Amino acid sequence: MDASHLPAYAETLIRGRRAIRAFRSDPVPEETLHSVFALAGSAPSSSNTQPWEVEVVSGEARNRLSQDLLAAHAKKRRSPDFLLSNDLYTGIYQDRRRASGAAMYQVLGIDRDDPEARGAFEAENLKFYGAPHVALLFMPPTAEERICADVGIYAQTLLLALAAYGIGSCPQGILGLYADTIRESLGIMNRKILFGISFGYGDAAAPLNNVPASRAKTSDTTRFHS
Ligand SMILES: Cc1cc2nc3c(=O)[nH]c(=O)nc-3n(C[C@H](O)[C@H](O)[C@H](O)COP(=O)(O)O)c2cc1C
Repeated sequence: MDASHLPAYAETLIRGRRAIRAFRSDPVPEETLHSVFALAGSAPSSSNTQPWEVEVVSGEARNRLSQDLLAAHAKKRRSPDFLLSNDLYTGIYQDRRRASGAAMYQVLGIDRDDPEARGAFEAENLKFYGAPHVALLFMPPTAEERICADVGIYAQTLLLALAAYGIGSCPQGILGLYADTIRESLGIMNRKILFGISFGYGDAAAPLNNVPASRAKTSDTTRFHS
Protein backbone atom coordinates (compact mmCIF):
# COMPACT_ATOMS: atom_id res chain seq x y z
CA MET A 1 0.00 0.00 0.00
CA ASP A 2 1.22 3.50 -0.82
CA ALA A 3 2.00 5.05 2.59
CA SER A 4 1.29 8.55 1.29
CA HIS A 5 -2.44 7.74 1.60
CA LEU A 6 -2.14 6.94 5.32
CA PRO A 7 -2.75 10.46 6.71
CA ALA A 8 -5.99 10.74 4.71
CA TYR A 9 -7.05 7.22 5.81
CA ALA A 10 -6.22 8.06 9.42
CA GLU A 11 -8.22 11.31 9.27
CA THR A 12 -11.21 9.40 7.88
CA LEU A 13 -10.94 6.46 10.28
CA ILE A 14 -10.20 8.34 13.50
CA ARG A 15 -12.57 11.27 12.94
CA GLY A 16 -15.23 8.98 11.44
CA ARG A 17 -15.47 6.79 14.55
CA ARG A 18 -18.37 7.93 16.71
CA ALA A 19 -20.16 6.47 19.70
CA ILE A 20 -23.03 4.42 18.23
CA ARG A 21 -26.08 3.96 20.47
CA ALA A 22 -28.64 2.38 18.09
CA PHE A 23 -27.90 -0.88 16.29
CA ARG A 24 -29.37 -3.29 13.81
CA SER A 25 -29.90 -6.74 15.28
CA ASP A 26 -27.96 -8.73 12.63
CA PRO A 27 -24.73 -10.13 14.08
CA VAL A 28 -21.22 -9.55 12.77
CA PRO A 29 -20.04 -12.65 10.85
CA GLU A 30 -17.68 -14.85 12.88
CA GLU A 31 -14.82 -14.49 10.42
CA THR A 32 -15.03 -10.69 10.65
CA LEU A 33 -15.09 -10.91 14.47
CA HIS A 34 -11.86 -12.90 14.36
CA SER A 35 -10.18 -10.42 11.99
CA VAL A 36 -11.20 -7.44 14.15
CA PHE A 37 -10.06 -8.93 17.45
CA ALA A 38 -6.80 -10.16 15.91
CA LEU A 39 -6.17 -6.59 14.70
CA ALA A 40 -7.02 -5.11 18.11
CA GLY A 41 -4.52 -7.50 19.70
CA SER A 42 -1.72 -5.62 17.92
CA ALA A 43 -2.16 -2.75 20.41
CA PRO A 44 1.00 -1.71 22.28
CA SER A 45 1.33 -2.26 26.03
CA SER A 46 3.85 -1.71 28.79
CA SER A 47 6.71 -4.25 28.34
CA ASN A 48 4.39 -6.00 25.84
CA THR A 49 2.43 -7.48 28.76
CA GLN A 50 -0.91 -7.34 26.85
CA PRO A 51 -2.84 -7.38 30.13
CA TRP A 52 -6.31 -7.56 28.54
CA GLU A 53 -8.60 -10.57 28.90
CA VAL A 54 -11.44 -10.00 26.47
CA GLU A 55 -14.80 -11.74 26.67
CA VAL A 56 -16.89 -11.29 23.51
CA VAL A 57 -20.50 -12.03 24.36
CA SER A 58 -23.19 -12.69 21.71
CA GLY A 59 -26.46 -14.59 21.22
CA GLU A 60 -28.08 -16.25 24.24
CA ALA A 61 -25.18 -15.36 26.54
CA ARG A 62 -25.59 -11.68 25.56
CA ASN A 63 -29.33 -11.82 26.30
CA ARG A 64 -28.74 -13.50 29.68
CA LEU A 65 -26.10 -10.93 30.61
CA SER A 66 -28.43 -8.06 29.73
CA GLN A 67 -31.22 -9.60 31.85
CA ASP A 68 -28.80 -10.02 34.78
CA LEU A 69 -27.64 -6.40 34.43
CA LEU A 70 -31.21 -5.10 34.32
CA ALA A 71 -32.07 -7.12 37.45
CA ALA A 72 -29.04 -5.65 39.25
CA HIS A 73 -30.04 -2.17 38.05
CA ALA A 74 -33.58 -2.64 39.40
CA LYS A 75 -32.13 -3.67 42.79
CA LYS A 76 -29.59 -0.82 42.66
CA ARG A 77 -26.90 -3.47 43.10
CA ARG A 78 -23.73 -1.77 41.92
CA SER A 79 -20.24 -3.20 42.50
CA PRO A 80 -17.54 -1.21 40.68
CA ASP A 81 -13.96 -2.51 40.85
CA PHE A 82 -12.67 1.06 40.50
CA LEU A 83 -13.69 4.18 42.43
CA LEU A 84 -16.56 6.14 40.93
CA SER A 85 -17.11 9.62 42.25
CA ASN A 86 -18.36 12.92 40.87
CA ASP A 87 -15.22 14.40 42.45
CA LEU A 88 -13.15 12.77 39.69
CA TYR A 89 -14.20 15.62 37.41
CA THR A 90 -13.82 19.27 38.36
CA GLY A 91 -13.59 22.59 36.51
CA ILE A 92 -13.36 22.31 32.73
CA TYR A 93 -13.73 18.51 32.86
CA GLN A 94 -16.97 18.82 34.79
CA ASP A 95 -18.14 21.44 32.26
CA ARG A 96 -17.41 19.10 29.34
CA ARG A 97 -19.13 16.22 31.11
CA ARG A 98 -22.26 18.32 31.64
CA ALA A 99 -22.21 19.48 28.00
CA SER A 100 -21.92 15.85 26.84
CA GLY A 101 -24.90 14.79 29.00
CA ALA A 102 -26.93 17.82 27.87
CA ALA A 103 -26.32 17.04 24.16
CA MET A 104 -27.45 13.45 24.69
CA TYR A 105 -30.53 14.35 26.73
CA GLN A 106 -31.51 16.95 24.16
CA VAL A 107 -31.47 14.36 21.37
CA LEU A 108 -33.47 12.00 23.59
CA GLY A 109 -35.89 14.73 24.68
CA ILE A 110 -35.14 13.89 28.32
CA ASP A 111 -35.11 16.45 31.12
CA ARG A 112 -31.81 15.88 32.95
CA ASP A 113 -33.62 16.57 36.24
CA ASP A 114 -36.07 13.71 35.58
CA PRO A 115 -34.61 10.74 37.51
CA GLU A 116 -37.12 8.28 36.03
CA ALA A 117 -36.20 9.14 32.45
CA ARG A 118 -32.52 8.99 33.33
CA GLY A 119 -33.02 5.58 34.96
CA ALA A 120 -34.76 4.33 31.81
CA PHE A 121 -31.82 5.55 29.75
CA GLU A 122 -29.41 3.72 32.04
CA ALA A 123 -31.44 0.58 31.31
CA GLU A 124 -30.88 1.16 27.57
CA ASN A 125 -27.14 1.12 28.30
CA LEU A 126 -27.62 -2.25 30.01
CA LYS A 127 -29.42 -3.58 26.92
CA PHE A 128 -26.21 -2.64 25.08
CA TYR A 129 -28.34 -0.20 23.08
CA GLY A 130 -29.62 -3.18 21.11
CA ALA A 131 -26.14 -4.21 19.90
CA PRO A 132 -25.84 -7.93 19.13
CA HIS A 133 -22.38 -8.14 20.76
CA VAL A 134 -20.55 -6.75 23.76
CA ALA A 135 -16.82 -7.06 24.51
CA LEU A 136 -15.98 -6.98 28.21
CA LEU A 137 -12.42 -5.84 28.83
CA PHE A 138 -11.15 -7.71 31.87
CA MET A 139 -7.77 -7.30 33.54
CA PRO A 140 -5.69 -9.26 36.04
CA PRO A 141 -6.81 -8.93 39.68
CA THR A 142 -3.76 -6.75 40.43
CA ALA A 143 -4.87 -4.13 37.89
CA GLU A 144 -4.46 -0.48 38.83
CA GLU A 145 -3.61 2.66 36.85
CA ARG A 146 -0.77 1.31 34.71
CA ILE A 147 -2.70 -1.72 33.57
CA CYS A 148 -5.81 0.41 32.97
CA ALA A 149 -3.68 2.56 30.63
CA ASP A 150 -2.73 -0.52 28.59
CA VAL A 151 -6.33 -1.66 28.43
CA GLY A 152 -7.44 1.85 27.38
CA ILE A 153 -4.97 1.74 24.51
CA TYR A 154 -6.26 -1.72 23.57
CA ALA A 155 -9.81 -0.35 23.68
CA GLN A 156 -9.11 2.49 21.24
CA THR A 157 -7.31 0.07 18.92
CA LEU A 158 -10.39 -2.15 19.04
CA LEU A 159 -12.75 0.79 18.39
CA LEU A 160 -10.73 1.80 15.33
CA ALA A 161 -10.46 -1.80 14.09
CA LEU A 162 -14.24 -2.10 14.37
CA ALA A 163 -14.72 1.21 12.55
CA ALA A 164 -12.36 0.08 9.76
CA TYR A 165 -14.58 -2.98 9.22
CA GLY A 166 -17.73 -0.81 9.14
CA ILE A 167 -18.86 -1.87 12.61
CA GLY A 168 -20.29 0.67 15.07
CA SER A 169 -19.40 0.63 18.76
CA CYS A 170 -20.01 2.33 22.07
CA PRO A 171 -17.55 2.14 24.95
CA GLN A 172 -19.63 1.92 28.15
CA GLY A 173 -18.13 2.82 31.50
CA ILE A 174 -21.50 2.12 33.05
CA LEU A 175 -20.96 -1.61 32.56
CA GLY A 176 -18.02 -1.47 34.97
CA LEU A 177 -20.41 -0.38 37.72
CA TYR A 178 -21.87 -3.90 37.66
CA ALA A 179 -18.62 -5.87 37.91
CA ASP A 180 -19.94 -8.64 40.21
CA THR A 181 -23.03 -9.16 38.05
CA ILE A 182 -20.93 -9.49 34.89
CA ARG A 183 -18.49 -11.91 36.57
CA GLU A 184 -21.36 -14.04 37.90
CA SER A 185 -23.22 -14.05 34.59
CA LEU A 186 -20.13 -15.12 32.61
CA GLY A 187 -18.66 -17.41 35.30
CA ILE A 188 -15.48 -15.34 35.56
CA MET A 189 -13.49 -15.14 38.77
CA ASN A 190 -10.54 -13.21 39.99
CA ARG A 191 -10.39 -10.55 37.28
CA LYS A 192 -11.20 -6.85 37.34
CA ILE A 193 -13.26 -4.92 34.82
CA LEU A 194 -13.31 -1.21 34.05
CA PHE A 195 -15.67 -1.06 31.08
CA GLY A 196 -17.12 -2.82 28.06
CA ILE A 197 -17.80 -2.03 24.41
CA SER A 198 -21.12 -2.77 22.72
CA PHE A 199 -20.81 -3.26 18.99
CA GLY A 200 -22.61 -4.24 15.80
CA TYR A 201 -23.88 -2.56 12.66
CA GLY A 202 -25.17 0.92 13.47
CA ASP A 203 -28.57 2.23 12.47
CA ALA A 204 -27.37 5.25 10.49
CA ALA A 205 -30.74 7.05 10.61
CA ALA A 206 -31.08 6.96 14.42
CA PRO A 207 -30.82 10.44 16.03
CA LEU A 208 -28.89 8.82 18.93
CA ASN A 209 -26.09 8.03 16.49
CA ASN A 210 -25.64 11.69 15.71
CA VAL A 211 -25.23 13.26 19.16
CA PRO A 212 -22.94 16.29 18.76
CA ALA A 213 -19.63 15.79 20.57
CA SER A 214 -17.24 18.63 19.86
CA ARG A 215 -13.63 18.54 20.98
CA ALA A 216 -11.49 21.12 22.75
CA LYS A 217 -9.10 23.12 20.60
CA THR A 218 -5.68 21.48 20.42
CA SER A 219 -4.20 24.59 22.05
CA ASP A 220 -6.48 24.01 25.09
CA THR A 221 -5.13 20.51 25.70
CA THR A 222 -1.67 20.31 24.15
CA ARG A 223 1.50 22.33 24.71
CA PHE A 224 4.51 22.08 22.43
CA HIS A 225 7.87 22.61 24.16
CA SER A 226 11.15 23.18 22.36
C1 LIG B 1 -14.11 4.93 28.78
C2 LIG B 1 -15.41 5.42 28.17
C3 LIG B 1 -16.60 5.19 28.83
C4 LIG B 1 -17.81 5.59 28.25
N1 LIG B 1 -18.99 5.28 28.88
C5 LIG B 1 -20.16 5.48 28.25
C6 LIG B 1 -21.38 4.97 28.80
O1 LIG B 1 -21.41 4.35 29.87
N2 LIG B 1 -22.53 5.16 28.10
C7 LIG B 1 -22.54 5.84 26.90
O2 LIG B 1 -23.61 5.97 26.30
N3 LIG B 1 -21.40 6.35 26.36
C8 LIG B 1 -20.21 6.17 26.99
N4 LIG B 1 -19.05 6.61 26.43
C9 LIG B 1 -19.07 7.30 25.12
C10 LIG B 1 -18.70 8.79 25.28
O3 LIG B 1 -19.80 9.49 25.80
C11 LIG B 1 -18.29 9.33 23.88
O4 LIG B 1 -17.18 8.62 23.42
C12 LIG B 1 -17.97 10.82 23.94
O5 LIG B 1 -19.13 11.57 24.25
C13 LIG B 1 -17.40 11.34 22.61
O6 LIG B 1 -18.30 11.07 21.56
P1 LIG B 1 -17.84 10.22 20.28
O7 LIG B 1 -17.35 8.87 20.80
O8 LIG B 1 -19.07 10.09 19.44
O9 LIG B 1 -16.73 10.95 19.61
C14 LIG B 1 -17.82 6.27 27.00
C15 LIG B 1 -16.59 6.52 26.35
C16 LIG B 1 -15.40 6.09 26.91
C17 LIG B 1 -14.11 6.33 26.18
